[in-house]
Amino acid sequence: MSPTIVQNASAAHQESFPISIGEQLVQSGCVSAGQLARALEVQTKEKGVSDQKEALIGKTLIELGYISHPALLNCLFHQLTRERVAYHLDPQAETIIRFENVEKTLDGRKVLDQLNMAIPANKITAIIGISGGGKSVTLKHMVGLMKPDQGEVWVGGQPLGKLSVRALNGVRRRFSMLFQEGALFDSLNVMDNVAFPLRETTALPEAEILERVEGCLQEVNLGGMGHKYPDELSGGMRKRAALARALVTRPEILLLDEPTAGLDPIIENAIHYLMCDTFMRTRYTIVCISHAVPAIFDWCHHVVVLHRGRVLASGPSVEIRNSTDPTIKQFISGDLDGPIHVI
Ligand SMILES: Nc1ncnc2c1ncn2[C@@H]1O[C@H](COP(=O)(O)OP(=O)(O)OP(=O)(O)O)[C@@H](O)[C@H]1O
Ligand SMILES: [Mg+2]
Repeated sequence: MSPTIVQNASAAHQESFPISIGEQLVQSGCVSAGQLARALEVQTKEKGVSDQKEALIGKTLIELGYISHPALLNCLFHQLTRERVAYHLDPQAETIIRFENVEKTLDGRKVLDQLNMAIPANKITAIIGISGGGKSVTLKHMVGLMKPDQGEVWVGGQPLGKLSVRALNGVRRRFSMLFQEGALFDSLNVMDNVAFPLRETTALPEAEILERVEGCLQEVNLGGMGHKYPDELSGGMRKRAALARALVTRPEILLLDEPTAGLDPIIENAIHYLMCDTFMRTRYTIVCISHAVPAIFDWCHHVVVLHRGRVLASGPSVEIRNSTDPTIKQFISGDLDGPIHVI
């Protein structure tokens, strides 16, 4: 029997989040109603923007000098904090992805072991757990890049294992994935890397593709960097370029595999802000594998702790952070003494 899963996360989004980002900024006192009205007017009249108000409103408010970029990001973070606490008090959300008794053996080792997991729609979920615990393998199952030996993965009410190739491709188009390694093509410059999924999967005119690519590069603060090649970028810039490539298709579900691994604390923070900014503008369902513990608890609504191929705990971020489970406590503290033996 099909579990209760929301079919269309966008519809859920409209019901749950009726107010726009601009209205949120006004409500939280970051800008005045007059400033918002002026920014919307500028967007519509001077920039000819009609359907992308959400994506550009922050930018326009900055250009008009009504708010600085760091102040805007801070407002978005505080909004996310409010949502995180509200979700803790009343953790209601539709499920968009569900794992049902999923088993996967790789090279003779059971990597996923009767894995049952639910990912809430239009929320940020962090998947945490020790290295080798099956986090990346789990993410690959969500997009059908790996198939379970047993059990089923459901996306929006559809069982991936029972879908035709065509239907599965349709489900895949709802996703974008930032791979753990970034996976940029070394032989392509940043512009062509980001344009790649649009050129492969759409018939958009080249001019529109280039416009969308530049827009995404600006969103990740890589505006004007399109001519650079991956080996000319720092680690943080490569991650941001990979994020731009994940965003360019405007996915409904964004999967991020360790977007902050190997980055300094400031760039890590910047990537977290970027994730928050993206979420606030788009309300995509975001699933983020992260080792940035405990920082990641501040940047997500929901946490899943994966351990030995199973879900050890899942729930609102605040609840998991305060867990008294010895394994979770040890993982958060990084203590060598405890139920997890690594050496
Ligand atoms: N394609 C594959 N073939 C064989 N074994 C694999 C494959 N992919 C992953 N594994 C194994 O599955 C286990 C889980 O790997 P996974 O990459 O999911 O770990 P992880 O939790 O993402 O770890 P990390 O935090 O280090 O990225 C590991 O033992 C790994 O060696
Ligand atoms: Mg991994």
